Amino acid sequence: MSKVAIVTGANQGLGFALAKGLANRLSADDIVYLTARYAERGRAALRSLGDTRAQVAFAQLDVTDDNSIAAFITHLKAKNGGVDIVASNAAARITKDRPKSEQVRALIATKRATGPVRPRSTLVVTPSHAIRAEKEGS
Ligand SMILES: NC(=O)c1ccc[n+]([C@@H]2O[C@H](COP(=O)([O-])OP(=O)(O)OC[C@H]3O[C@@H](n4cnc5c(N)ncnc54)[C@H](OP(=O)(O)O)[C@@H]3O)[C@@H](O)[C@H]2O)c1
Repeated sequence: MSKVAIVTGANQGLGFALAKGLANRLSADDIVYLTARYAERGRAALRSLGDTRAQVAFAQLDVTDDNSIAAFITHLKAKNGGVDIVASNAAARITKDRPKSEQVRALIATKRATGPVRPRSTLVVTPSHAIRAEKEGS
């Protein structure tokens, strides 16, 4: 069975590197979803990837937007059935121009995993560590 990987916030930085790394390590039957909240940024990142071993597809995903999450999950279920690797990377950036207390809600809102995860799938949360999901939905 082919593997399905998703990377959130993959249009730049660590997320882009994760998507690229997965795309070059997985097999030709596998698919990596390079997701981004802004379509033009995601598509530009996809173009800059060039040739990869695995298939790579762009999908719009704002991890703070319930409608965006629901649409992506619906697409995944219909097209791929489930997900094997979730790289939960998207994060609002904390800047120095405003108090941290004003920015923390946005940061927390972006720090959540998404996807109908298959049993024994892998969840990677940047930058800390990878864990093995023991049961579906964990
Ligand atoms: N780089 C480091 O040294 C470092 C150190 C410690 C922790 N981390 C963690 O590693 C992760 C990535 O870091 P980074 O340096 O690569 O950060 P980054 O360059 O700021 O990239 C963050 C990514 O998250 C996306 N994002 C923000 N809000 C989003 C939303 N609501 N929905 C979907 N995507 C969203 C951004 O998209 P836009 O381009 O649209 O803003 C961007 O693609 C973060 O979780 C960060 O906390 C990084």
